[in-house]
Amino acid sequence: MKKTLITSALLYANGPAHFGHIAGAYLPADIYARYRRLQGDRVLFLSGSDEYGMPITLSAEKAGKTPKEHVDLYHNLNEALFHKLSFSFDHYSRTTWEGHEETVLAFFQDLKKNGFLMEKEELHLYSEKEGKFLADRYVVGTCPRCGFTEARGDECTSCGANYESLDLKNPRSKMTGSPLSLKKSRHCYLRFDQFKEPLKKWIAEKHWKENVRNFSEKYIEDLKPRAITRDATWGIPITLDDGSKKVFYVWFDAPIGYISAAKDWSQKQGFPDLWKDFWLDPNTSFVQFIGKDNIPFHSVFFPAMVMGQNAPYKLVDELPANEFLQLEGKKFSKSDGHSIDLEQFFTKYSADQARYYLAANAPETADADFIWKDFQTSSNADLLGKFGNFVHRVFVFAKRYGDATLPKGSSTAFSHLGEGGEEFMNNLRSCWETIGQSYDQFQVRKACSCLMKMASLGNAFFNANAPWKLVKEGNVSAVNEVLFACFFCMKLLAVAAFPIIPNTSSRLWKMLGFSRPIEQQLWENTLEEELPFGTVLEDPEVLFEKIEDESIEYEEKMLASSVENAPVPGKETIEFDQFSALDLRVAKIISAEKVKKSRKLLCIQVDLGFAQRQVVSGLAERFSPEELLGKHVLFLANLAPRKIMGILSEGMILAAGEKEALEIPTVEKASAGSVVS
Ligand code: 2FM
Ligand code: ZN
Repeated sequence: MKKTLITSALLYANGPAHFGHIAGAYLPADIYARYRRLQGDRVLFLSGSDEYGMPITLSAEKAGKTPKEHVDLYHNLNEALFHKLSFSFDHYSRTTWEGHEETVLAFFQDLKKNGFLMEKEELHLYSEKEGKFLADRYVVGTCPRCGFTEARGDECTSCGANYESLDLKNPRSKMTGSPLSLKKSRHCYLRFDQFKEPLKKWIAEKHWKENVRNFSEKYIEDLKPRAITRDATWGIPITLDDGSKKVFYVWFDAPIGYISAAKDWSQKQGFPDLWKDFWLDPNTSFVQFIGKDNIPFHSVFFPAMVMGQNAPYKLVDELPANEFLQLEGKKFSKSDGHSIDLEQFFTKYSADQARYYLAANAPETADADFIWKDFQTSSNADLLGKFGNFVHRVFVFAKRYGDATLPKGSSTAFSHLGEGGEEFMNNLRSCWETIGQSYDQFQVRKACSCLMKMASLGNAFFNANAPWKLVKEGNVSAVNEVLFACFFCMKLLAVAAFPIIPNTSSRLWKMLGFSRPIEQQLWENTLEEELPFGTVLEDPEVLFEKIEDESIEYEEKMLASSVENAPVPGKETIEFDQFSALDLRVAKIISAEKVKKSRKLLCIQVDLGFAQRQVVSGLAERFSPEELLGKHVLFLANLAPRKIMGILSEGMILAAGEKEALEIPTVEKASAGSVVS
């Protein structure tokens, strides 16, 4: 029996998973796992939480939690979320389980014994202000490749470059913005340079997507030793030869998590050695699903780590790396309010609706967008309009005009339909082949479009043969032939769609009268297998709910308003001197008038006691000039004068909120010119 090991990148447990993650490294993996099981493979499908490293400590600090509290929360939350999306992981593990540390240390020991590690003292980025070394994620600066000024310490989110943080230009602390200096610290380095030739040879034999292969080949040209330890407290501890205490770099421990996750699964199965069947067998087919930002870690670093082991761990065979999915043209970001609350989502929409849209719109060769309106169209026009509608009308017809059972027939000989029947069958078979090939080649978009083609063929066939006319003519055997062909189409649809919309497929499968679960179905038997003729047809279930316009308008409105109300990140700390430099005063408004040709602006004269000033303010949408007269407002008096729509503005009235929520803080007793402090 063929064995297939499938992994999805271990997700940082520092926030809720979003559709951007799901569409890239997770749903395509679940679809593939389900498909390979239909092909009869023994599949082990793993993922889990990546729980160490700076991404965790950074966001735990922001949330005011310990790293452990933080990862516990998000590990459980994300596991539950995958469950809601009907994921079929064999195990969803986590890197804080005890077996992981052991596996990482064993990896380290082998690399050390085999001469692939070295320790040395080098300069590292140090924050005098915070009194500590700052690891990659705590550092921002200018990308050495593209010049992006907000690049992270170890990778550039703009051009995708990976580098050592020492290569970053103008490094500064992400937390305080203060510049960083260089200080010596001892670390352990993995000699990636020693793997250059074996990696080159190995990658040359791969039939990976062009972008994955090109990127990896280019990457190994410049392989240098890289530090695999960090000065931090959250991580897997390791003591260096001089007794100094470090933790492993998260990108050293995390990929080993794919092995420890298999061990975790084995133990939970009650057979602690079961993982070896997959990991230590050269015949296992090993497929890793990742996002494009993870390519070098899976195509170069981890394979090198595996090559340095004494145990014959499998090297990855296929590396389908996907691009990114954004939300309505912008990156998903919970902190910016640009996100979808998945808890809410699943109270209104089904897992299959989400899965289908994400698969049909998967970011396979280019970045893609989650667009609420497209989600509605994909559900209503494809799932409901093509798939659901076909099933529904055939069932309704068969119940009303046939003898309400599933008719017997043959998929090769059609005495009444003749060539038309054969042509329909051939078209279905060809779709079936294409769908299988698409799954094998990780092309879920194509699989989706071909599924819909199959449903449309069914609809067109049903229309063209108009069995309601045949009923009128009393041609019962022709009616049965049409119905048989339609049910045959549904059988194929149920199985072919199962990897993508498993819940609907399973319901359809039962409606057709198959008694064993669809999970046990074999792809290769499906074309030939008899339909369970004689099945007493039930009233058809509604397979897909219609998504109403109001529902989508609501989602769009919520997205827009949550973006507006998103908390604005705090600014850099300033010294007291900088604050004292602001000349904040109470100002009395003595006149106000609308600025011509502007909806927003008022031209206001204020009395500051020691002087009068003119200021142009964006208050007109909320306040009439009359309402403002006589108010004692807070005023920044020493702002450099500038012209707004040609009118001189010499200061600023302080205000808070936007649009209808716009307010001007006022004081009553303090007189014009009083100092605000
Ligand atoms: O980029 C990420 O989200 C990482 N947590 C992926 C880790 S994959 C593996 F190596 F564990
Ligand atoms: Zn860059």
